[in-house]
Amino acid sequence: MTVAVCSDHGGYELKKALIPFIESMGHSVRDFGCFSTDSVDYPDFAFPMAEAVARGEFERGIAICGTGIGVSICCNKVKGIRCALCGDVLSAELTRRHNDSNVLAMGGRIIGVETAKAITKTWLETGFDGGRHEGRIAKISAHE
Ligand code: RB5
Repeated sequence: MTVAVCSDHGGYELKKALIPFIESMGHSVRDFGCFSTDSVDYPDFAFPMAEAVARGEFERGIAICGTGIGVSICCNKVKGIRCALCGDVLSAELTRRHNDSNVLAMGGRIIGVETAKAITKTWLETGFDGGRHEGRIAKISAHE
């Protein structure tokens, strides 16, 4: 799978820990920045990453800031993006099965690396259930 990732300074360390983990599962990763812990503005990284996913250049995206909230707000303003902010594995599973989320957001100041790895693995490996959930997603797309 092709995975685009991004963070701000608050998510930089967690993103740095997750990239080799994602690659070790056989996925290819492109990092849209940031590239240090210097203070930056999360919209400058979340919008380009989400837009690349929306254009179909990547199958999935992962966005990380301090809380995960700022990047998730940005990503969900991009047409075609369904971004899920997850802090636990069950939410990661269910947002794939029910929402067919194409971007995962996490908070680098909220969860630890091992929890983030478990969330990421589940989210990347869980499929969409389809069925009754198709119509709900169609309503989101129609609203866009
Ligand atoms: C940066 O200090 C912080 O506001 C940002 O990482 C994020 O938590 C915003 O939602």
